[in-house]
Amino acid sequence: MSNVDSQRRVLSGMRPTGRLHLGHLHGVLQNWVRLQHEYECFFSIVDWHALTTEYDDVGQIRQHVRDMAIDWLAVGVSPSAATLFIQSQVPEHAELHLLLSMICPLSWLERVPTYKELQERLSHKDLSTYGFLGYPLLQAADILIYRAGLVPVGSDQMAHVEFSREVARRFNHLYGGEVDFEERAQAAIGRLGKKTAKLYSGLRKAWQEQGDGDALETARALLKEQQNLTLGDRERLFGYLEGYSRVLLPEPQALTAKNARMPGLDGQKMSKSHGNVIGLRESPAEVEEKLSRMPTDPARVRRSDPGDPQRCPVWQWHLIYSDAGCQQWVQEGCRSAGIGCLDCKRPLIEAINQELSPIRERALDFEDNPELVRSILAEGAERAREAARETLVEVRQAMGLTYR
Ligand code: TRP
Ligand code: SF4
Repeated sequence: MSNVDSQRRVLSGMRPTGRLHLGHLHGVLQNWVRLQHEYECFFSIVDWHALTTEYDDVGQIRQHVRDMAIDWLAVGVSPSAATLFIQSQVPEHAELHLLLSMICPLSWLERVPTYKELQERLSHKDLSTYGFLGYPLLQAADILIYRAGLVPVGSDQMAHVEFSREVARRFNHLYGGEVDFEERAQAAIGRLGKKTAKLYSGLRKAWQEQGDGDALETARALLKEQQNLTLGDRERLFGYLEGYSRVLLPEPQALTAKNARMPGLDGQKMSKSHGNVIGLRESPAEVEEKLSRMPTDPARVRRSDPGDPQRCPVWQWHLIYSDAGCQQWVQEGCRSAGIGCLDCKRPLIEAINQELSPIRERALDFEDNPELVRSILAEGAERAREAARETLVEVRQAMGLTYR
């Protein structure tokens, strides 16, 4: 039985697309930097996932992986707090992917919304491949191999996390059997104490007989509160709610950040494909130049024309970077034509350069020291492999693959 506390484990992955930008910083990385001090975090550069769509253009992967690693390190994702690694350096992910492929119905993969969407969006490519169809299953393996309970992702990834939950449930259902389970579970209930035991049994019944989802949630919360349960009993009682005896692969949950999504220079979501980004390693001059060219409320043709911040992407950035005083200055100055757009952008140029300055510096250090980056990733892969192997031993055993 596993002694991993999956509620304290975090896994996330990012496809290596090269250098990162402010959208990554505000949308994802700041969140990771916070999480790494509160949880046991695994962060993976998922190069195999890159191959699912870029199999015909592999020349850049290496550089993209390096750049991504440097940017993670530069923003403060720390190898002493978290485990940073390249997916393909932990081949255990591939074995779990293979084993899970045995039990994953094709129809589950075909109905994941991103499958058709992305195929249509990238219609210039042939994505009728086995690897691309299996994308969400590989992602499920990434998560389940660490028994990570929490997966910080953007809202676009919710369907993939939900899919991972279904795969975990099916796996547990098929292989989570234990002899004498009923007796063991009843004995564990006996150890809950009279009041709690009665509550648990009632909630379990409401879930199993009436499908009452609230009762299931309440029962889970109740178990979480129990201080003096052994891990074995805890897992048994979690499983007993669902009708299987052991939670071999705990169901992960998405952890969506509340962060404002970072708009790009044109007000659309910041994304490399929109050409509206500010890169984390861009120079102060580049930042200034890009902001100067940033479009504003089209009503302000002349300096003397009043404007409306609501119609201006620059205002969206003031909401992220400026304090209340500065925001008021913008609102009044814009509407009365008291300030020009370049005046309005000044404090942002300042704030962004201040934010990027330490990141640029650290990135330079890592750029100058590729050996250090390589060894951080190698050590990360070693640590990740240890955790992954623990799960695989149990998975192989559960699936009958033991020959000793
Ligand atoms: N599919 C994710 C994305 O495109 C990347 C990813 C791969 C991932 N494996 C993961 C994210 C595991 C979270 C957990 O953003
Ligand atoms: Fe936008 Fe500021 Fe110009 Fe108003 S003054 S239009 S908010 S840049």
